[in-house]
Amino acid sequence: MRKISVVLAACLSASTAVGALADDQIRLDYLLHCSGCHLPEGQGAPPVVPGLKNALGVIVGLPEGREYLVRVPGAAQTPITDKQLTDITNWILYRFNAETLPDDFEPLTVNEVSVARAHVLLDPLQKRVEIWNRRQSGDGARYSK
Ligand code: HEC
Repeated sequence: MRKISVVLAACLSASTAVGALADDQIRLDYLLHCSGCHLPEGQGAPPVVPGLKNALGVIVGLPEGREYLVRVPGAAQTPITDKQLTDITNWILYRFNAETLPDDFEPLTVNEVSVARAHVLLDPLQKRVEIWNRRQSGDGARYSK
């Protein structure tokens, strides 16, 4: 019995270590590919580069919001895999937008990111205004803060 619990404990700590390693890798990818413009803590450099904090938790809950996040040119066109972009975007949402994420938020999947990022936005600002305005009406209203 003792042996089993030792093995179990070892497995548990190994899987926690793997989780931490994966998180480190995603953070590194963010630092390498996104932070040059958005800065390490997602502060951005408004008005030229938007910050990635708080507002994205609202946007992700609005119609077209999920795909918007990976259709902006900086995200869609960065030479990283769909899996990397999915991980980075979910990481940004949990890390910088925890307070505004909808209660029923489901992480983005590699599949949806792969489809969405192929449709790069030509006018991201206009699409953002369109999506943002939806928070006043219909379903989006419950996410506004
Ligand atoms: C070369 C600079 C640059 C890089 C690199 C960059 N971005 Fe951006 N990002 C921008 C700019 C500028 C905007 C505003 C929209 C536009 O003009 O493209 C933006 C907008 C965004 C938005 C929408 C924010 C909002 O509030 O509407 C998200 C999400 C985003 N970027 C994610 C990323 C991710 C993830 C990466 C890394 C994979 C990344 N960006 C890399 C410059 C950059």
